[in-house]
Amino acid sequence: MTVRKPRIVVTRKLPEAVETRMRELFDARLNLDDSPMTQSQLAEAMADAEVLVPTVTDRIDAKLIAKAGPALKLIANFGTGVDNIDVKAATERGITVTNTPGVLTEDTADMTMALILAVPRRLVEGVAALEAEKFKGWSPNWMLGHRLQGKRLGIVGMGRIGQAVARRARAFGLQIHYHNRKPVPAPIEQELEATYWDSLDQMLARMDIVSINCPHTPATYHLLSARRLKLMKPSAYIVNTARGEVIDENTMAQMLEKGELSGAGLDVFEHEPAVNPKLRKARNVVLLPHMGSATIEGRIDMGEKVIINIKSFVDGHNPPDRVIPAML
Ligand code: 8YV
Repeated sequence: MTVRKPRIVVTRKLPEAVETRMRELFDARLNLDDSPMTQSQLAEAMADAEVLVPTVTDRIDAKLIAKAGPALKLIANFGTGVDNIDVKAATERGITVTNTPGVLTEDTADMTMALILAVPRRLVEGVAALEAEKFKGWSPNWMLGHRLQGKRLGIVGMGRIGQAVARRARAFGLQIHYHNRKPVPAPIEQELEATYWDSLDQMLARMDIVSINCPHTPATYHLLSARRLKLMKPSAYIVNTARGEVIDENTMAQMLEKGELSGAGLDVFEHEPAVNPKLRKARNVVLLPHMGSATIEGRIDMGEKVIINIKSFVDGHNPPDRVIPAML
């Protein structure tokens, strides 16, 4: 018996191994030159496809979903964050949404830790000084940063990635504090010697470093609002490897400019790929181009998860990584 292969559209170029497997299993339309699709190209793809595989760079909004063809039954996101998709609109139209949680936890936590180390220890400034031939020999007051050991790290969002960051930070002697919708189970809290703050305001006012590790949802948009940013100590640092939208970026940039915050390590921005010009000019800011999960192993694992979600869905099973509006 020949089984009909589902028609899938993949919006960006994925690792070779993932594309090869997708070709074997599905009637796959791949994006070989990796040019991002316009809204009208996405609409065209969604009019015919049975499964759409978008990424963070595709805005699958209610308008597009309303125009989806009757065959479209699954949006299998290549990525963990689903803020690029109107999950509620999709669900109401009977379209299932899945994501790829878990497989990018360790890589993203590594990059978060890299920024936690880089900013207080002025790593990028040091590299730039050397490259600009400003290094004239060691001196006792040259390039002084701040010690990590014993400082307070406040993690906003203690899910998988937040916990993985906490584990790394503990090894560097940081004290772990966190704010979350609810406390994590007691054994995890004990293992991490973590202190739960129900009040984000109170936590922010006391932290030396704040790391953003929560998803971007309507509830977390500008969670670090101008008012909350102003509660932070001028000696504090912010690290964000989650989503730019969680912080009022403009206010943060102004505060960095005025020295009302000591520094920031940012892998994500509010209006990607645009980077606020004030951030580019700010001193002691390390800016990365959304590469927190960018490892070849991670991308292959993400592709594998997408395939498993599609396969189980088309075979009539519940896909393992289904996202429902109530989760957001
Ligand atoms: C991904 C991410 O690379 O998965 C996420 O939520 O932010 C990234 O690390 C990207 O989203 C792929 O769609």
